[in-house]
This record gives sequence, structure tokens and C-alpha cells, in this order.
Amino acid sequence: LQSVLANMTGGIVMIDAGQSIALVNREAERMLGIQAGKVTGKPYTELKRHYELTRTIEESVALKERMHEEVSVFNPEEKLIRIDGVPMSEDDGGYRGMLFLLQDVTAIRRLESMRSEFVANVSHELKTPVAAVKGFAETLLSGGVQDKETERSFLKIIYDEGDRLNRLIGDILELSKIESKRAPLQCSPVHVHSFFEMVLGTLSKVAEKKQIRLEMHVPEELYIEADEDKMKQIFINLLSNGINYTPDGGRVKLQVTMDNDDEVVFAVSDTGIGIPKKDLPRIFERFYRVDKGRSRNSGGTGLGLSIVKHLVELHHGKLSVESELGMGTTFRVILPFIQDEEM
Ligand SMILES: Nc1ncnc2c1ncn2[C@@H]1O[C@H](COP(=O)(O)OP(=O)(O)OP(=O)(O)O)[C@@H](O)[C@H]1O
Ligand SMILES: [Mg+2]
Repeated sequence: LQSVLANMTGGIVMIDAGQSIALVNREAERMLGIQAGKVTGKPYTELKRHYELTRTIEESVALKERMHEEVSVFNPEEKLIRIDGVPMSEDDGGYRGMLFLLQDVTAIRRLESMRSEFVANVSHELKTPVAAVKGFAETLLSGGVQDKETERSFLKIIYDEGDRLNRLIGDILELSKIESKRAPLQCSPVHVHSFFEMVLGTLSKVAEKKQIRLEMHVPEELYIEADEDKMKQIFINLLSNGINYTPDGGRVKLQVTMDNDDEVVFAVSDTGIGIPKKDLPRIFERFYRVDKGRSRNSGGTGLGLSIVKHLVELHHGKLSVESELGMGTTFRVILPFIQDEEM
């Protein structure tokens, strides 16, 4: 019985009829940051550091009835604990105390709130372009626009917003595919130099338009084992951000170096507008744009970097960013040379 209690994945706290702590198992010790040796035999008010928990115990010890409750404890970061309490009785029916089962539901609740947040975000993001398409189409249909030029500009807006909707839906589908792991890696050796010649090639038109110089410094003889399509998505996203968020006449640079024997470092840096310090921790979140205004102009959806983050993680790599406002930004991707099956 001792070893069952000690190895249970749920926490157990037993309060006896005299309102003292009779038993605390190992998992409850870990959840609450207490030591059984120090609290057993003491009144339950010893747990007062966990205010909500103590209050819940107080209530149920008074009522002597079955109960369920969710409380927050801080140890040191916040955790959500589900408590199920049952009164214990002697064979003759006399009250012996309360038994509490504690379960950490932090991760489940976080996932639930993330999911509903995602749905809310998606609907919000879709509403704006749909409203624009509808509004401008209505105006045109009502015949209120006389001159050809205004008419054309309205049609252009409808076209652009339609385009934006299309990209948004494409990105959302892509992201959900990656997140649900329905997109396994298909690895092959990639010759890094020719890979980036191809990638920069596809971006050269956009860069030229803004007179942005694209530079690459890549060792000639380097190969890496990776999923080429996904790797292309990663760097097209990072390099297009570099081009998008750099004023005309700037520079976007890609530098590849070997870190040690088993990793390759890809640095994408630009001389652009930069990202404020306070936004840095959040830019990899879905739909996060530093300043909605500046990204709307470029038609951004705020999904690019969250896709990048997922793809880098799929490759067991690391992603980091440094930036100085008005000076430029550097994104660093570190990928292992070899994709280990085991990982
Ligand atoms: N190189 C950069 N320089 C400055 N700001 C950047 C840079 N890269 C990203 N950002 C900021 O981070 C935000 C998130 O980037 P992300 O690529 O996820 O979305 P986006 O570019 O707005 O849209 P898209 O999904 O079309 O890429 C951007 O809106 C932008 O404000
Ligand atoms: Mg982007």
C-alpha cells in the first residue's frame, strides 16, 4: 500500500477527524512543494501558503461531503490543481476524516484555452477582409460609383483582400497540418549552397523592386540532411520578412556557418526597421504582428514566424532572434547536420 501511494501519479492528502494532516504522498509533496515529514501530524492550516487550497480543505472538512474544486497553487509558478475530496468512514459509519485526490490540470486547461483563443483569432482575422470585400462590392453593385478610376480602385481592393483571404486560409491549413504532425519530415541530403541560390533566386524580383541587396555567404562544400521543402518554407519566410521590413535601398544577408561537428547555423539579418524589445518574446505566436499597421501594408497574416518555429522544431533545431529598433534584425536558425531517427 505504501508503494502504491508513493508511486501514484495523483497527489493524495489525508486530513484526519482532528483536522490534522495524516498523510501526504510523494506526488502531493512535489505539487505543493512541501515535505511529508514536516507537515504530517500538524493542523492542515500548515498549508496556508496555498491560500485557495487551505480554504477548500476548510470548507470540505466542515461539510464532510464529497466535493470537486479547481484551485491555483504557486510553486513557484502557477499551477491549476483539481481536487476531489471524499469523506472517509469507519466500519461502523463514524467519520474518520477527508481524503483529497489532487491532479495537475494546468496543461489541459492551457491547451483548452489556446484552442478557443485560436478559433477566436481566426474568425477575427477572416472577418476584416470579408467585410472589405462585401462592403466594396455592395457599393459597386448599388451603382453609386460613376467614374472608371474609382471603380477600378474598388475592384483592386476587392482583389487584394481576396488574395489576402486566400493566403490566410492557406497559412492556417499549413499550420494546422504541421501542428497535428501530419506532415512528417522527408529528409534527404541538401547541398546548402545551391539550395540558397535557388531560394534567393525566387526572391530576387521582390528585392529588386525595393532596391534591396541580397547577400549570401555559404560554404561551397556543405551538405545537410533536411526536408528540402520545409527548409525552403523556413528561409523564404525569414528572408521575405527581411525584405518586407527593410526600407528601400537596404540589405538582407544570409550567412551559414558550421557551429561544431553536429550543427549548422543559418543567420538571416537585415538593415530594417527592427522589432521593439517588448514584442520580441511574442513574435513567434500565431497572428502576432508588431504593429498591425505596418504589416497590413505588406499584407502580412502574422502566421509566417509561427510556421517557421514549428518547422525548425520538427527538424530538432533551434530558433532565436536579436533586434535593434531602426538598425535591423537577425534571425538565427540552428539545425543538426543529421536527422537522428531516434529523436
Ligand atoms: N525582419 C524583421 N524586421 C522587423 N520586423 C519583423 C521582421 N520579421 C518579423 N517582424 C515582425 O514580426 C511580425 C510577425 O512576423 P510574421 O512573419 O509571423 O508575420 P507577417 O510577416 O506579418 O505575416 P506573414 O504571415 O505574411 O509572414 C511581423 O508582423 C513584423 O512586425
Ligand atoms: Mg512574414
